Amino acid sequence: MPKILLLPGDGIGPEIVSEAVKVLKAVGRRFQIDFHFTEALVGGAAYDAVGVPLPDQTLQLCYASDAILLGAVGGPKWDNLPMALRPEGGALLPLRKKLGLYANLRPVVLFPELVDASPLKPEVVSGLDFVIVRELTGGLYFGPKKREFVEGEERAMDTMIYSASEIERIGRLAFEMARKRRRKVTSVDKANVLESSRLWRAVMEKLGEEYPDVELEHMYVDNCAMQLIRRPVQFDVILTENTFGDILTDESSVLTGSIGLLASASIGGKVALYEPAHGSAPDIAGQQKANPLATILSAALMLRYSFNLEEEARAIEAAVREVLKQGYRTPDIMEPGKKPVTTAEMGDLVAGLLG
Ligand code: IPM
Ligand code: MG
Repeated sequence: MPKILLLPGDGIGPEIVSEAVKVLKAVGRRFQIDFHFTEALVGGAAYDAVGVPLPDQTLQLCYASDAILLGAVGGPKWDNLPMALRPEGGALLPLRKKLGLYANLRPVVLFPELVDASPLKPEVVSGLDFVIVRELTGGLYFGPKKREFVEGEERAMDTMIYSASEIERIGRLAFEMARKRRRKVTSVDKANVLESSRLWRAVMEKLGEEYPDVELEHMYVDNCAMQLIRRPVQFDVILTENTFGDILTDESSVLTGSIGLLASASIGGKVALYEPAHGSAPDIAGQQKANPLATILSAALMLRYSFNLEEEARAIEAAVREVLKQGYRTPDIMEPGKKPVTTAEMGDLVAGLLG
């Protein structure tokens, strides 16, 4: 009996997680899998209820579960708290670190039905299918930080640190992933300026020797940002460090129509965490306007990576595609002539096709 911990979090988090649960239950009925769900507090919701964004009880439940589905954390209400109490710095980042989730996979796939929802021309985006492998527990996010006064002026510092072993383990994961795809890894860095990038490149070069069947190319991050809109179909696996990955994944999501479609899997530890790549969208929270598909597709990734349920994962992906084919659209991907639906209606439609 797979034990799934739900961490709905803040903003639109609760609305979108409910829809993914609906879909998982439908999959469970169709394939006779008895998913067991537990829910816990995280982020601003936890801070409001118990005074800390990552309660110990939540952490214990994480360790005791087989997989975690997270909605989103953060919002203006908690923006002025000290970093350790903020939903991002006090909950999401420590959660990634404590669970050892060093790899964040963000598949960027264009559903043919949404080719016109993309801001790029159909001939530029059609056939788009790549995955970004983002390092998730190192770099600027976790390096030493400091804020100090020097000669009467305040200054601040973040540090980008990577050890060879951190680079190697994520690099290996990218190569292995490429072997199951089109056998190409684009390692993205800023080796013309950053020392950490020079180490990154050297480690990747050496590791590449173990994978002669996979093409390895290096690309500067600024060029990659440009190539993503110029000719995105050139990519198969994009591998990069934490901050570059944060930025490039948001950019990539728009190619497929909306960030509301970008799923993610954070893996590498004993228990993996699945979450949509978008944020808590406080401006539309509670209004049933959010697109639940990124969370639903994250649930599909959970079936694939945590439970090895490939057929079931594909069934969810096929159902999502079918609903889009039938013309149903949440506001973020609405186009003239299509059928507008709410968050819950979208979830019902996907679940309805599954069982
Ligand atoms: C993401 C988000 C987070 C990040 C924020 C909420 C801390 O933007 O998952 O991409 O920067 O990693
Ligand atoms: Mg981000």
